[in-house]
Amino acid sequence: MFADDKLPPATTPVNIPDEFISQRPRSLVSAPALDYAQSSDTRDTKHDEETHVKTVGVAMIGCGGIALQNHLPGFALCPQAKVVALCDTNPAVLERAKSQTGITAAFTDWHDVLKHSGVDAVVIATPNFTHAPIALAAIAAHKHVMCEKPIAMNLEEAKAMLAAAEAAGIRHMTAFTYRFVPAMRYMAHLIKTGFIGQPYHFRAQRFQDWGDRNLGWRQVKKLAATGELGDMLSHRIDFAHLLIGPMARLVARLKNFVPIRGGQPSDLDDWVAILADFKNGATGVLESSKLATGRGEGGKSPDVCEVNGSEGTLIYTLTRPNEIQVGKKGGAGLEMQAVPEEFLKIPGSPRDVHSGDPVIAFRWDQDFEFIDAIVNNRPATPSFADGARCQAVMTAALESDEKSKWVEVPAI
Ligand SMILES: NC(=O)c1ccc[n+]([C@@H]2O[C@H](COP(=O)([O-])OP(=O)(O)OC[C@H]3O[C@@H](n4cnc5c(N)ncnc54)[C@H](O)[C@@H]3O)[C@@H](O)[C@H]2O)c1
Repeated sequence: MFADDKLPPATTPVNIPDEFISQRPRSLVSAPALDYAQSSDTRDTKHDEETHVKTVGVAMIGCGGIALQNHLPGFALCPQAKVVALCDTNPAVLERAKSQTGITAAFTDWHDVLKHSGVDAVVIATPNFTHAPIALAAIAAHKHVMCEKPIAMNLEEAKAMLAAAEAAGIRHMTAFTYRFVPAMRYMAHLIKTGFIGQPYHFRAQRFQDWGDRNLGWRQVKKLAATGELGDMLSHRIDFAHLLIGPMARLVARLKNFVPIRGGQPSDLDDWVAILADFKNGATGVLESSKLATGRGEGGKSPDVCEVNGSEGTLIYTLTRPNEIQVGKKGGAGLEMQAVPEEFLKIPGSPRDVHSGDPVIAFRWDQDFEFIDAIVNNRPATPSFADGARCQAVMTAALESDEKSKWVEVPAI
C-alpha cells in the first residue's frame, strides 16, 4: 500500500533487459527478531561458537526523532545487532527511548557511552554541531561510527572525520537514508549499466510546507550550520553523486524568508537552489524549499529526481518508492514500472519487503548495511567519504551565494 493511495497503479512494465537487474546477495541472514535487548549481559563484539554469527553492540547517541523512527527499528530487525546503550542530554527523551526499547543502560553524557562495556559501534543522531566532536572521540576509542547527515558543520570537520576513520580502520557510514529507497537504488543501477546512455541532465526537487513553525536547533546557524541546504538538499546532493558522479563547479542561492520561527530567531536558509556542471559534462539543477505552501511534508510531499540521458529518462519519486518512471528514445513517453523484486531491499537485508509502509520501511536497510559492513569487515556505503563529498558541495554553495559567482567544488 502506498502512502498516497490516490495515485494510479503502475502501468505495464517497460521491457528492461535482464542484465540491468541482476544482483547477488552479499550475505545471508535469518529472519528478523523484533527484540531490542535480546539477552541479558552487555557484551563485546564476539563470534558465537555455535552459529559463528558475530554480534555487534550498538550505542545510540541522540534519541530524538530520527533515532526512534529510523535507527532503533532498523537495528531491531538485524539479528547481528544488539543495542546496548542509549544516550541523550534530555532526560525526558532518554526516558521515552528507554521505555520504548527496554534498554536500561542510559546516559546523558556521550563520553560515558564510549566507556561502556559492550559498545562496538555508535550511531550519532544529535544536532549537527555535535557530530564531529562525538565522531572523533568515538573513532579514537576505536568504535565503528554511523553519523547522521550532514556529517559536519564545515568541510574541515568532515575531512578530519574521514581521515581519522580511515587511519583507525573502523567502519564509517553517513546516514544518507534516501539512497536506500528501492527506486533510487534501481535508478542508480540502470544508469551505471548504461540503460539511458550518456547522462545529460540531473534534476532534483524537494518541496515541503513547513510554514513558520519553530524548528528548534535546526533554525540556529551555530547549531546546524545551514538550514534547507544541509537538512534536505544534502540527500539530493548525494543522489547527484550516486547517479552522475562528482560536480566540478556550481552557482547557488540560499534565502531566509522566515526570520522568526515560533517566536524565535531563525538565521538559516528556508530555500536553496544549485546550478551545477558535473565533471563528466552533465548539468545539474537542484532546488529545495521549506516554504512550498500546500505541498505537504515528509514522505507525502514532493521528492523527485530525474535524469535525462542520450537513450532515455528515469524519474524517481519518494511517494512511489517501489516504482520508477521510464522513458526511452523514440518511445511513446513515460511509463511507470515496478522496481524488480531483487531491488526492493539491499542484498541480505532481513526486512520483509511486503510488510510495513514502503515510504518508511526502506530506511531500516541503512542500519543493516552498517552492521553487515562491520560483521563482514568491508567498507560501508555511503561512507564518510560520501558525507565529505556532500559537505564540499555545500561549502561551495555557501561561497557561491556569498560572492554571487560560480565556484569550483573541492575534490575529495
Ligand atoms: N537521515 C535522515 O533522513 C534524517 C532525518 C532527520 C534528521 N536527520 C539528522 O539526524 C540528526 C538528529 O535529528 P533529529 O531530527 O533526530 O533531531 P532531534 O532534535 O529530534 O533529536 C536530537 C536529539 O539529540 C539530543 N542531543 C543534543 N545534544 C546532545 C549531546 N551532546 N549528546 C547526546 N544527545 C544530544 C537532543 O536532546 C535530542 O533528543 C541531525 O543531524 C539531522 O540532520 C537525518
